[in-house]
Amino acid sequence: MHQAWTALGQPVNQLRLELNKWPMVESMLRPQIKRRRQPLIEEHDRLPPTAASREAVSDVLFAQLHELLNSVNQDAGAHEHGCFPDIPLAQSLFLREVHAAKRCLAVLKPGERTRFLDVGCGAGLKVISAAPYFDRCAGLEYDPGYAALAAQLFRALPHDRCRAIQGDALAWERYGDHDVIYFFRPMRDDALLAQMERRIAAQVPPGTLLIAPYTIFGRRAAELGCAHVAGHVWLAGRSEAEAARLRREAELIGTDVLRTGEANIPLVWDPLVRASRLRGYEATLRARPPLKDENS
Ligand SMILES: C[S@@+](CC[C@H](N)C(=O)[O-])C[C@H]1O[C@@H](n2cnc3c(N)ncnc32)[C@H](O)[C@@H]1O
Repeated sequence: MHQAWTALGQPVNQLRLELNKWPMVESMLRPQIKRRRQPLIEEHDRLPPTAASREAVSDVLFAQLHELLNSVNQDAGAHEHGCFPDIPLAQSLFLREVHAAKRCLAVLKPGERTRFLDVGCGAGLKVISAAPYFDRCAGLEYDPGYAALAAQLFRALPHDRCRAIQGDALAWERYGDHDVIYFFRPMRDDALLAQMERRIAAQVPPGTLLIAPYTIFGRRAAELGCAHVAGHVWLAGRSEAEAARLRREAELIGTDVLRTGEANIPLVWDPLVRASRLRGYEATLRARPPLKDENS
């Protein structure tokens, strides 16, 4: 009798321990009770000054890191082919756009594996920066020296989610294998740039997200069948009304990306954790700021 009672006690104690983790789970659920719209891309001018200053420092550091990672000269053949050298987009601008695209994907393809491509990846810093957001990240690069550096960098990562592909963006045929395609003016000549844009737009299935952080793309987007979502994020093969609907839905997706508390949450909570994660909410050990109406 005593043994049976002890045997019964063990799972009950285990369950009690697991249920005691409720505060972590609650930190995921609470912000979903009354979901608040968060803009996909916040304007830089509206950042708190401390955050803006931190971003500026981080951009400087990333520019230095980029220099450290890519000290090789541009290949003569790549220059001849019309390629820009490996000139980086500011890291803060990149992460802003990528974060927006990630939240859009939570609406477009909830729970599906996500694939990111940087067309003209240089030494690969943007590809590894996209890795926390997507399941697979690839960099296409024409310049053989840069492509080799990117491949070397990806091999040294603590994960296996980044790939370097040496190839020509003007002849590539696998754009359709990606959900988010980023291109930051790979080539100098505008006619070649427009040719690449047409190639990408023609190959990707409707609903593919394009990140094109340069002004002239906006002027060509409509004729390429791309509608504006936010910032420099575009939706291929869809109407402006569909892009606006996507924006509104994606603004209701949570903003969490990193799986912070994962190791500490027992399996018993898994269904709630998974459902929350699909909507962009992760557990946090820090207290969430209270919802507005809790104080009113
Ligand atoms: C302006 S840099 C962008 C670097 C990086 N993607 C970023 O955003 O920080 C352009 C890169 O595109 C590459 N590129 C230019 N033309 C290309 C082509 N036809 N096919 C593949 N890569 C190309 C260049 O070699 C260079 O590394």
